[in-house]
Amino acid sequence: MPNPSRPKLFVTRALPPAVTERALSAYDASLNESDRVYSAAELLERAEGSDAILCCSTEKFPAAVIEKLPESLRILATFSVGFEHIDIAAARARGLRVTNTPDVLTEATADITLLCLLGAARRAHEGQSMLRDGRWVGWSTTQLTGVHVTGKRLGILGMGRIGQAVARRARGFDMTIHYHNRSRLPAEKEAGAIYHDSAESLLAVSDIFCINAPAAPENHHFLNDARIALLPPGAVVVNTARGTLIQDDALIAALESGRIAAAGLDVFEGEPNIDPRYRHIENAFLLPHMGSATVETRDAMGFKCLDNLDAFFAGREPPDALC
Ligand code: DGY
Repeated sequence: MPNPSRPKLFVTRALPPAVTERALSAYDASLNESDRVYSAAELLERAEGSDAILCCSTEKFPAAVIEKLPESLRILATFSVGFEHIDIAAARARGLRVTNTPDVLTEATADITLLCLLGAARRAHEGQSMLRDGRWVGWSTTQLTGVHVTGKRLGILGMGRIGQAVARRARGFDMTIHYHNRSRLPAEKEAGAIYHDSAESLLAVSDIFCINAPAAPENHHFLNDARIALLPPGAVVVNTARGTLIQDDALIAALESGRIAAAGLDVFEGEPNIDPRYRHIENAFLLPHMGSATVETRDAMGFKCLDNLDAFFAGREPPDALC
């Protein structure tokens, strides 16, 4: 039964059960049990009369959509740390608060980054396929030899929370950590990592190049032909941030020629409609955007959305306000 005293919350995707339960207990929540991704027109129609929206990075809120959102809407909580799908300037201009979910997915995303790094370097996809397809005829000295990871130079583009968590893990593999970031970290956060004041200088020393920077217009298709040419021959590329940082034509050509030994990718431009050529590239270890996909992390992300909404509707500042 609708309860007029509770804020009306439009939830755009299906949520983990514990998060759904809490949303229903505190809000007059309309859910999306089918979990279908709504078009912009459907989002606008279903948002009608809502005080709040809980969305994911699968729903896009460019200025043209934000301008048409109902007058009643006061806050948009995204179930993601990334917020490139929301035009923050447009939201700010119309007085709409926006929150995201930092911190709680740092460790899970760093874990999947190491999985992609190792999966690519050690040819996990090829090994799995050989076994599953019944093509394994037995052990040999040269079979599926990959890139040795221990002791290599790891270049991290974007040394925020996730980049730093990747560095912590990579130190366990005795890797030398290099990084490029908008600004240099303080010594205690750097923990011995070597700062590069340009991405180009970082690329030149990256035996393994790991993208952990948020998507922004200035890094769209960052990894292109020219930048791939700066990497050491036989480098490994890892991306668990956003697909738009890679120009697929350039990476695919480099994987096919062997200029890049392997890539470990959890994110893709235009996902889930990935460039179909990736499906046939043996030296690509591919995952379907699973960085934050642990039960604990997804619950924590959902609870963080609700914490932000609860704070807002109680008249407090949402802890993760972007605007
Ligand atoms: C995030 O939190 O940004 C994840 O990539 C899911 O969108």
